[in-house]
Amino acid sequence: MSWKPVDKISVLLENGSLAIPAPRQVSKSFFNHQIFFLQYPLQKDIFAWMKSKSIRKSTVSKDPQISSSIEPDRPILKTASKASAETVEPLATQDKSTTMVSPSTLRQDYSKGALRRSDLKKDPLAQFDVWFEEACACRAITEPNAMALSTANCDLVVTSRIVLLKGYTQKGFSFFTNITSLKGKQIVENPHVSLLFYWPPLERQIQISGTATLLPLATTERYFHSRPRDSQLAAYASFQSAVLPNRQTLEARMHSVQKKFKNQEIPLPDFWGGYLVAPNVIKFWQGRRNRLHDCFEYTKKEKNWIIERLNP
Ligand SMILES: Cc1cc2nc3c(=O)[nH]c(=O)nc-3n(C[C@H](O)[C@H](O)[C@H](O)COP(=O)(O)O)c2cc1C
Repeated sequence: MSWKPVDKISVLLENGSLAIPAPRQVSKSFFNHQIFFLQYPLQKDIFAWMKSKSIRKSTVSKDPQISSSIEPDRPILKTASKASAETVEPLATQDKSTTMVSPSTLRQDYSKGALRRSDLKKDPLAQFDVWFEEACACRAITEPNAMALSTANCDLVVTSRIVLLKGYTQKGFSFFTNITSLKGKQIVENPHVSLLFYWPPLERQIQISGTATLLPLATTERYFHSRPRDSQLAAYASFQSAVLPNRQTLEARMHSVQKKFKNQEIPLPDFWGGYLVAPNVIKFWQGRRNRLHDCFEYTKKEKNWIIERLNP
């Protein structure tokens, strides 16, 4: 495949996706400046590439700027500005709308399943158990236990990040972390948190709102010692969420703790802990056709769970 420095060519397919090999980023030094620019394959190579992948060519475009130039059964080629290599901005500062994939063209309809009231367990933890088992059985889901955890400080500044679910019981959902991290500090200020599972291959999400409390020390200790040795050491090496001047500092700390605990059991760091999120609301969402999804919310009222269908 031959490459051209700056022409931006994208091929829009019927479903709005882009059929094009990814551009490559190239950098050059001019005086003291490092200039980044994209190189796109030549048009004839795109046709050859599409043919080799048996990609069906589009006949319809929803992009008004280019729809007038469409001929039936031909790919749509969109050629953007021919800026010279020297004037193309670094990738990080480019306006997303000028790059090849426009998020507004990405579209997915959901049709893998349905969730009916009659399918639901009375207890949301039992329902979670059914869906979690199905997510674990789905080979396309590599980390079914990855969940977004959102926390907010007392000024209600919210942050989210992924953590791994390490257990669930009738009492709630647990994960482990550095308790002096940003999330740990926010939980001290405000124990109300949210968990979110998203399993795209099943077109399902589960939203959980609840209250986080520290797990008993013995539970944390048991889990910490079940981790691979290097993960235990890494807990000592990483001052999670704090500024790190460079990678070498982290690796030097890792070497130093490896030496320190050589041939010894690694004690549980006092800044490391587990949290239990006791749920008060759990929502199960199943994607359906034409955005008419199914969504059921369980809300805890004293000791009972009320189930309601929500508008999607
Ligand atoms: C797939 C995945 C799993 C992760 N699992 C954990 C975890 O179980 N515990 C944890 O403290 N951080 C985990 N992280 C890192 C967090 O997302 C986050 O970067 C880190 O905890 C610092 O977050 P904070 O500064 O908001 O407290 C994981 C990240 C990813 C992408």
